[in-house]
Amino acid sequence: MRLADCHDFHDFRELARRRLPGPIFDYIDGAADDEATYRRNTASFERCDLVPNVLRGVSSVDLSVTVMGQRLAMPVYCSPTALQRLFHHDGERAVGAAAAKYGTMFGVSSLGTTSIETLRKSFVTPQVYQFYFHKDRGLNRAMGQRAKAAGVDVMMLTVDSITGGNRERDLRTGFSIPFRLTLRGMVQFALKPRWGLNYATHDRFSLPQLEEHVDLSGSAVSIGRYFTEMLDPSMTWDDVAHMVREWDGQFCLKGVMAVEDAKHAADIGCTGIVLSNHGGRQLDGSRAAFDQLAEVVDAVGDRLDVMMDGGVQRGTHVLKALSLGAKAVGVGRYYLFPLAAAGEAGGERALGLMKAGLERGMKLMGCRSMAELSRGNLRFR
Ligand SMILES: Cc1cc2nc3c(=O)[nH]c(=O)nc-3n(C[C@H](O)[C@H](O)[C@H](O)COP(=O)(O)O)c2cc1C
Repeated sequence: MRLADCHDFHDFRELARRRLPGPIFDYIDGAADDEATYRRNTASFERCDLVPNVLRGVSSVDLSVTVMGQRLAMPVYCSPTALQRLFHHDGERAVGAAAAKYGTMFGVSSLGTTSIETLRKSFVTPQVYQFYFHKDRGLNRAMGQRAKAAGVDVMMLTVDSITGGNRERDLRTGFSIPFRLTLRGMVQFALKPRWGLNYATHDRFSLPQLEEHVDLSGSAVSIGRYFTEMLDPSMTWDDVAHMVREWDGQFCLKGVMAVEDAKHAADIGCTGIVLSNHGGRQLDGSRAAFDQLAEVVDAVGDRLDVMMDGGVQRGTHVLKALSLGAKAVGVGRYYLFPLAAAGEAGGERALGLMKAGLERGMKLMGCRSMAELSRGNLRFR
């Protein structure tokens, strides 16, 4: 199986599965508890039908949107994800390059493996910095200032990870940073020597957003301990309000689901929210963002930009979300599996297929611009 054989999410996933050591594949593919929310994220799109219009003269289609002050050539962005250089040695550089090629935004995680400065200098396309809130307020301020100085366009504070989700696949393989593999996990790494060779012969693995502030060398602090010891579970709306004021720019909360919280986000001056359950990796049993979208858009859509992520695998999923009022849609595994399968070429192929799917879907829906999508074109089963 080669990259050219990949025509959809499932093909990319299969190629990634063949190329990655099992514990790394499971880290990407897995979710919390019974993974019910993870499955529901994609299934929720199936309960919604598109009702197309015809004969509307759709020879050309404009996919562009403006979200959080950023003009995107298409309404899909790469949501921030951790540890990308573990998946492919080019990691965030590959994702940034693919996003820039398709004129869209990409997120860099606090647990990213390439520095926000390097990425900012490398690509002229909107860049998001995904932030976790630390107990040490001085550290939060320093990281915010660093992101500002780097020229990050959008600050994205993740609020659904106040504690780690229960990812049982990782417990079984022993996946953690630093690795603490079980025997079964070690055997799975031994079966993929090509990955090991790439990992060993490229830049040393690092977490440049954190290493200036946190000692992650050796086994001093694991990512698990970073979450439990350094992040602040006592974070409240007042803390975030303060951060929004200090940032003084485009600021969004990722992981809001309740209408009440969406209103609160608008009240404290956030310019956007992402409805998200973290790809099902945090609270299993929580609702799919797509199912929650209309309620939230109705409540706050005129006060801030509402985005969503979770389970998006096709252009038609994106069209459904935009018809309900989302301004843009984030993808995670949709670009991570291609990244793992083939680096930059994989990311480009995935975004290219997404763009083609969006254009085709828009033409078949009889729409020329994203603004023409509306709830009138949707019916729920
Ligand atoms: C492997 C992996 C790592 C992730 N790392 C982060 C992260 O560091 N910060 C964050 O806010 N979200 C993270 N996410 C969540 C994504 O940003 C996004 O919300 C989610 O993947 C969307 O669901 P999807 O994968 O079904 O598209 C991660 C997701 C995956 C799959």
